[in-house]
Amino acid sequence: MKKMPLLFYGGDYNPDQWDDSTIQEDMKLFKNAGINLVTLPIFSWAKLEPTEGEYDFAWLDQLLAGLWENRIYVCLATPTSAQPAWLSARYEDVLPVDIAGRKRTHGMRVFFCVNSGNYRKRAAAIAEQMAKRYAGYPGLVAWHVCNEYGTYCYCETCQQKFRLWLKARYGTIQELNERWNTAFWGRIVSDFDEIMLPTQRNDDDRFNPGIQLDYLRFMTDSTLECYQNEAQILKQYTPEIPVFTNISGFIKKLNQFQMAEQMDLAGWDNYPGPRDEISFPALKHDIMRGLKNGASYMVTEQSPNQQNWQPYNKLKRPGEVRTLAYQGLAHGADTSLFFQMRQSIGGQEKFHGALISHEGTANSRIYREMSALGAEFAKLGNCFLGGRTDASVGILFDWENWWALELASGPTKDMNYLTQVHHYYKPFYEKNIPVDILRFTSELCRYKIIVAPLLYMLKDEIAEKLEKFVRQGGTLLATYLSGVVDSNDRCIFGAAPGTLKNLLGLWVEETDALYPDEKNEMRMREGYLPKPSYFCSFLCDVIHLTGASARAVYGSDFYAGTPCLTEHVFGSGIACYLGTQPEDDFLSDYIDLLCQKAGVKPLLLTDPGIEVTRRTTPEGSFTFVMNHRETEGLVNLGAETYDNLLTNETLCGSCNLAGRGVMVLRNDFLAAPPKI
Ligand code: GLA
Ligand code: ZN
Repeated sequence: MKKMPLLFYGGDYNPDQWDDSTIQEDMKLFKNAGINLVTLPIFSWAKLEPTEGEYDFAWLDQLLAGLWENRIYVCLATPTSAQPAWLSARYEDVLPVDIAGRKRTHGMRVFFCVNSGNYRKRAAAIAEQMAKRYAGYPGLVAWHVCNEYGTYCYCETCQQKFRLWLKARYGTIQELNERWNTAFWGRIVSDFDEIMLPTQRNDDDRFNPGIQLDYLRFMTDSTLECYQNEAQILKQYTPEIPVFTNISGFIKKLNQFQMAEQMDLAGWDNYPGPRDEISFPALKHDIMRGLKNGASYMVTEQSPNQQNWQPYNKLKRPGEVRTLAYQGLAHGADTSLFFQMRQSIGGQEKFHGALISHEGTANSRIYREMSALGAEFAKLGNCFLGGRTDASVGILFDWENWWALELASGPTKDMNYLTQVHHYYKPFYEKNIPVDILRFTSELCRYKIIVAPLLYMLKDEIAEKLEKFVRQGGTLLATYLSGVVDSNDRCIFGAAPGTLKNLLGLWVEETDALYPDEKNEMRMREGYLPKPSYFCSFLCDVIHLTGASARAVYGSDFYAGTPCLTEHVFGSGIACYLGTQPEDDFLSDYIDLLCQKAGVKPLLLTDPGIEVTRRTTPEGSFTFVMNHRETEGLVNLGAETYDNLLTNETLCGSCNLAGRGVMVLRNDFLAAPPKI
């Protein structure tokens, strides 16, 4: 993708909710706040096509002309996430059927069946109208298709298509029976036409996870077809303009690695919960950067203030919108966009924060904070855009692994893959050590450390790749629940961790699940880590060594004295295995040890709560320092000198950063050709 010409700042704007004089006022307020891009007309299908095949673009023409006069760029959205009422009413196949078999009624958005022929026909038609009409629009930056895909459907059309999809995937019904292990509970099918969609699951009637896994794959494929139905048309008219769809912050629904392969760029909506640890949105940003192998991405939405749909919608504290916006840029985003520019006065989201609140003018804390941010962004310019992150640590991540882990009945009901991955991400984050999120097919050899949390599903030759990585000198950290199943969620015969046994030098006989109030203990080999023992919980593997050495053993229960942390020298590298979930202190100390041995260093040393990342372009290196705390803290810049682009100061050595303070530090000596 071409580098963005500007650091785009702005976001979703819904002018169809406002009269002309309000829109005129908005233009002034946008300019004043430094807004240089809006995304629209996301929900305007009914206004643009009031009756089937009859279009009214006059209002949008006028609006776009006004925006360009003010030199405000546009991310042009096809309005297909909210189909008009006539479309839902006229064609039976448009509204979706939910998991409980209920045909849904019109009224929500993203409330259509992605496989509906009539939906796709009308969506393609309006996308074509827009592409034809606005192909030459000078302010067009990108096409934003639909909005936050991710509604699953269980209708008759989907059922038929699922059968065809399975036939194409497995060829014969015998093969499908094998893959789904239908001999269990006598669920054998003799014809593809007998297959039904996996619907409601409850405690007595759990659906076969292998079938559910394929349904989720099918939904990703169906959604991609639905996306391409519009994207291909847009591409025909404007081949040079990037096309993408924005990813919901609830990223689990669709396989985003697969989705991203067909997008020109990745863009996502970042809505951290008020009580999320700050490392959690950092992880999600890194996942987004990983979607297209380290390339810059867009933050398409974040909230200027509180949301309306969290259980408790806390206000963003003074300065918080700024640190969160910088966090996106710091992790690889090239835009800082928000939902929404003007707060709606009715409907579900009337209490959702906005640049311009119900009060309607510039007279609000949030407007002032956002304007100050706009001025700062204008000063920063586009110098760091396209900058890459140079990480020596990679964490393996995979959507199918995620789905399968959480679909499995057992070993624990508390399985949450993202939380688990975060557990292993956090110590690196806290030490200011950059991490890349990698897919199973990524190239591993440029990394010094690979962490593979809960590598439950073995596929994509991942075992061979990890062997090669370690043999050549890499450090691998694998965990409990690794190497358990194949790509159809069938347990690998001959014990876990399957084809990783040789590399890890052990096998796992049993895995104990602990109640939330239960703990075990990791007793460390003497002098190995700063503390002689640490707590562990959640899951405990009972491990037999076949080459690895124990570094810690369990402290209690019938498996007391057996290994829970092992290391196996393999070729020139080392393969480590954590058989249980340790407390944070252990991970902090252990990651220190692994990094020290592997020669991985923090970008900068800081007080806790201060985050540091670095983006490098061929011209310079840009170090982002964000103090997420309300109190000031120390940043040690060492012997290098840096220019703070926000204040024009030259800095070196140890300095104080105010509470909620941010620095963007340029240092051209650190500029190295980024590894791509
Ligand atoms: C999503 C949607 C927006 C809006 C925001 C509110 O991300 O894309 O239209 O509903 O949530 O947080
Ligand atoms: Zn359907």
